[in-house]
Amino acid sequence: MKRREFLTGIAVTGALGYATTADAASPAVTSATSVAPARVDWEWVRAQFNLSRDWIHMSSFLIASHPRVVREALERHRRGLDEDPILYLKSHDDEAPVLEAASRYMGARPSEIALTDSTTMGLGTLYGGLPLRAGDEILTTTHDHYAHHESIRLAARRAGATVRKIALYERGADASAESMAQRIASAITPHTRVVGVTWVHSCTGVVTPVRAIAHAVARANAGRAADNRVLLCVDGVHGFGVKNVEMADLGCDFFVAGCHKWILGPRGTGVLWGKADAWPALRPTIPHFGEEAWNAWYKGVEPPPTNADMMTPGGYHSFEHRWALAEAFDFHRQIGKARVESRILELNRQCKEGLLSMRHVTVHTPKAAALSAGLIAFEVAGLAPPEVVARLAAKKIHAKVSPYRTSYARVAPAILNTPAEVDIVLREIRALA
Ligand SMILES: Cc1ncc(COP(=O)(O)O)c(C=O)c1O
Repeated sequence: MKRREFLTGIAVTGALGYATTADAASPAVTSATSVAPARVDWEWVRAQFNLSRDWIHMSSFLIASHPRVVREALERHRRGLDEDPILYLKSHDDEAPVLEAASRYMGARPSEIALTDSTTMGLGTLYGGLPLRAGDEILTTTHDHYAHHESIRLAARRAGATVRKIALYERGADASAESMAQRIASAITPHTRVVGVTWVHSCTGVVTPVRAIAHAVARANAGRAADNRVLLCVDGVHGFGVKNVEMADLGCDFFVAGCHKWILGPRGTGVLWGKADAWPALRPTIPHFGEEAWNAWYKGVEPPPTNADMMTPGGYHSFEHRWALAEAFDFHRQIGKARVESRILELNRQCKEGLLSMRHVTVHTPKAAALSAGLIAFEVAGLAPPEVVARLAAKKIHAKVSPYRTSYARVAPAILNTPAEVDIVLREIRALA
């Protein structure tokens, strides 16, 4: 995994058959200094962020502010790289700690995880790498993000495959898990090779029943040949860092998420997870800078079957960001995944109940905790969504408009928010009547 060591010939032992001696000193690494209290409280969590106190940050899902441990790790790596890029790379160019932290958080094996720079990069490399053939169909929904639909469109165009989009519900607030899974189940045809869904819709805040959809896909796969199997691909970015689940709980084949939203990781980080047996069918698009692929190139032979490592785009990266991702996963585990989920759901319950009691507000996110996560989409009678966001901004509240054809205003109470802040947001939305 010491990729650049391998590439720069510092420790090549494989194809070229030579190795240099271990190097002398490299810049020292200090250990993280922000030690959490034995049982972390929410004030301590808020204090980990440098977020301005002038605003109420109800849109932190867009792009993360880094908690202290992540800032410190970033700074440590940045300093080391600036002081001596060669020595620092030699001693730190190892993605194993990041993959191990991700695997502990995700309940997956490190060898099942590829590292990316964003949800968009994960979706693009995944769909671009699927073994699609002319005439195959990708089944997706009308609720997914631009980056997901575009990844599907581009992959389908290259392969001569077709794309079908179905609605899982008419009104987000009325969505039901059974009906969403049922709509997918009845839309799968003999031509369907991929089902692409989004775990938490960023237009409506609806949580899709990924597990039930995985069951529907498994039923459709019964009796199909291995190379004809339907693969279930999930854009999981707005559930990742919110929901207390592990990859196996979801039951999908591939899971894509940026880590710079709810995971609170370094900006420009993401993961692509796949079931162990799903990787060999993929075709990498961006060359990976890893030992297996380079060895094959040195020897002029075919690389081995694709694995998660080979789906990690190569090239020299913003290494300090990638390496500091380990601290973000550990930050979540330090607080406790279950506590993170229940805090977010509780703040969102408080916010939704307040909004539902306002006659001038229409809430598009389901009230049920099982069908919602950290995003609340709503409309205010007589005001276009950008106007709602502008009025809240005038009160120093960050809300966001959803970037979809039908768009709503959104707020997203997160672990860095408090019940008192939710009350202020509700007071200001009430005043928009
Ligand atoms: C559902 C969904 N998928 C993908 C993206 C793109 O995420 P990234 O910036 O990590 O590429 C977004 C952006 O907010 C999103 O809402």
